[in-house]
Amino acid sequence: MKGGSVLFLITVVTVLGVCHGGQLRKKFYKESCPQAEEIVKNIIWKSVASNSTLPAKFLRMHFHDCFVRGCDGSVLIDSTPNNSAEKDAIPNQSLGGFDVIEEVKTQLEKTCPGVVSCADILALAARDSVSFQFKKPLWKVLTGRRDGRISLASEALANIPSPFFNFTALKQSFASKGLTVHDLVVLSGGHTIGVGHCNFFSNRLYNFTGNGGADPSLNPQYAAFLRTQCRSLADNTTTVPMDPGSGLNFDNHYYKILLQNKGLFQSDAALLTNKGSNNIVEELTDSEKFFTEFAQSMKRMGAIEVLTGSSGEIRKKCNVIN
Ligand code: HEM
Ligand SMILES: *[C@@H]1O[C@H](CO)[C@@H](O)[C@H](O)[C@H]1NC(C)=O
Ligand SMILES: *[C@@H]1O[C@H](CO)[C@@H](O)[C@H](O)[C@H]1NC(C)=O
Ligand SMILES: *[C@@H]1O[C@H](CO)[C@@H](O)[C@H](O)[C@H]1NC(C)=O
Ligand SMILES: *[C@@H]1O[C@H](CO)[C@@H](O)[C@H](O)[C@H]1NC(C)=O
Ligand SMILES: *[C@@H]1O[C@H](CO)[C@@H](O)[C@H](O)[C@H]1NC(C)=O
Ligand SMILES: *[C@@H]1O[C@H](CO)[C@@H](O)[C@H](O)[C@H]1NC(C)=O
Repeated sequence: MKGGSVLFLITVVTVLGVCHGGQLRKKFYKESCPQAEEIVKNIIWKSVASNSTLPAKFLRMHFHDCFVRGCDGSVLIDSTPNNSAEKDAIPNQSLGGFDVIEEVKTQLEKTCPGVVSCADILALAARDSVSFQFKKPLWKVLTGRRDGRISLASEALANIPSPFFNFTALKQSFASKGLTVHDLVVLSGGHTIGVGHCNFFSNRLYNFTGNGGADPSLNPQYAAFLRTQCRSLADNTTTVPMDPGSGLNFDNHYYKILLQNKGLFQSDAALLTNKGSNNIVEELTDSEKFFTEFAQSMKRMGAIEVLTGSSGEIRKKCNVIN
């Protein structure tokens, strides 16, 4: 290898190391706030116990956070008269659970002021909320993220993949965050919990083909059922479970219905349109494999472009920059 290429390789490796969580570590708050992870877990479990829709909210919120400016808590920031924040972008629709994040933050500020970042709280909340039904953590969360000071609606629009994306566009979107097709298929398994609004998929139900027909890649019986839920193309308020019959259970049922052409969005169906990706879908119908792979891909997603060391800040309140 020529000197130039070696230098290039070292540079690439270094940059990736920094951007992809080289600085995150296990139990970052062990000395500075030993109770931190316990406090997050207790409040999140208490909240999920009384509201079973929250795991889907936190999991999606963490994903949206990480895909826009990295996992820096920017999704939590409110708009100001001068700035339209990520929260106000169209893909934000139905983001929720912000009040619970704030409750966690308030408690942590009482216990160890100025120590625990909102970005870490969100990463832990996603893990702990989804893990509640198992009463044990489903994946490891490295900590040490710091909070960003910028949140722009325009960047959410540009970085959050659309449910109308085809395989090529999805692959490109994940690649731009350093994630592979394998990560794409594994993390799409997040759609095993939660709901989708009709307007994100009803184009598949009504006149998709231009001569009245539904999307041929959607299971016809399922399409007929969905038409009873979403009565017109204009319906933007009704929601349906993304994983029918198992919408509150975190499991690998998503892949089983996907193979029956019952994926809700075009972006779900798109995972079957590529040979390699289709093979991964089939692999993940093995439950044990799914849980192992999901843990690994979440770790990679949770490390996207993180701020560490002295970058960014530790926000005092998660919805406003200091
Ligand atoms: C692959 C690209 C993805 C696309 C195009 C996509 C798109 C969407 C859309 C359109 C919704 C419905 C929102 C609504 O109607 O309110 C949704 C919901 C959801 N997504 Fe994704 N998503 C993707 C990847 C992910 C990933 C990587 C995760 C997490 C690992 C995730 C977790 C969720 C969850 C949990 C919900 C349910 C939210 C709720 O019930 O409120 N998604 N997604
Ligand atoms: C908004 O911008 C104006 C003028 O640039 C500035 O005076 C004001 O402090 C800003 N307000 C906020 C909330 O940032
Ligand atoms: C999402 O954005 C809309 C405007 O597009 C706004 O009205 C709504 O409050 C936002 N949702 C959240 C949870 O901030
Ligand atoms: C559960 O949490 C969601 C998201 O914050 C909220 O919209 C909903 O009203 C809550 N439901 C109950 C019963 O509190
Ligand atoms: C995927 O979508 C992009 C953008 O809409 C489009 O340019 C491309 O032709 C599509 N690819 C396939 C294989 O359909
Ligand atoms: C279906 O779409 C085609 C092409 O856009 C249009 O000409 C036709 O009028 C539509 N049919 C219905 C029933 O809306
Ligand atoms: C739903 O559609 C109506 C009518 O087009 C519109 O006024 C409203 O803002 C939309 N709501 C959402 C949440 O997009």
